[in-house]
Amino acid sequence: MSRIIALFNQAGGVGKTSLVNQLGYMIACCKRLDVKTKKRSKKKGDYYQVLVVDMDPQASLTIFMGLDPYELDKTIYHAILQDEPLPIHKGIYAQTQQEDGTPGVDLVPANLGLALAERELMSAVMSDFRLREALLPVQEQYDFILIDCPPSLGNLAYISLVAATHVWYQFNLSTKHLMECSSYLTRLNWCGHVQTGILRSPDLYQHV
Ligand SMILES: Nc1ncnc2c1ncn2[C@@H]1O[C@H](COP(=O)(O)OP(=O)(O)O)[C@@H](O)[C@H]1O
Ligand SMILES: [Mg+2]
Repeated sequence: MSRIIALFNQAGGVGKTSLVNQLGYMIACCKRLDVKTKKRSKKKGDYYQVLVVDMDPQASLTIFMGLDPYELDKTIYHAILQDEPLPIHKGIYAQTQQEDGTPGVDLVPANLGLALAERELMSAVMSDFRLREALLPVQEQYDFILIDCPPSLGNLAYISLVAATHVWYQFNLSTKHLMECSSYLTRLNWCGHVQTGILRSPDLYQHV
């Protein structure tokens, strides 16, 4: 079953994008783990399949992963607001020159055009489920889908949380950020996540 993890904080500069980039790469370098025997697969090419989704119009993740946002014809915007298939850029960081090379990370990019979505989502039909629906056709192809949320409590963050099976709340250890946790918990409650529990990072590592 695919795990869809939203990296979320309403604040910017807490390391969400860096973590999506690095965690995506690290997971994609891991061979599948047999949870019962705790042993890694020895099969050639049996790596975890990872998709990362840039939901921030600032497109930092897209840039970190080597794409030029201004040259993109299609972004996540087209999938969530124009019902087009996800524009997936495959195999970033792939090491195919080696005999048992890693498949790399697949990316759904963003650019500034995604900023329009904040307003358009207000009047879109079934807007809350737009990202969840967009991911549905590819979900089973991936073990992990990581969503890089924008630093806001707007519609783009909201639909990311609705699409997620898990939420990773990334924050700096400061009084300000700890106090903001309460608004974060309210937000998760709206999206039905408190009932399903909050992800602690050891839980994730058990499965990678
Ligand atoms: N673990 C870390 N330690 C120190 N600096 C970090 C770490 N992760 C990210 N940064 C730096 O913090 C800044 C903001 O990171 P970023 O991932 O863009 O945050 P966000 O996506 O939450 O806005 C960047 O300059 C980045 O290089
Ligand atoms: Mg970011």
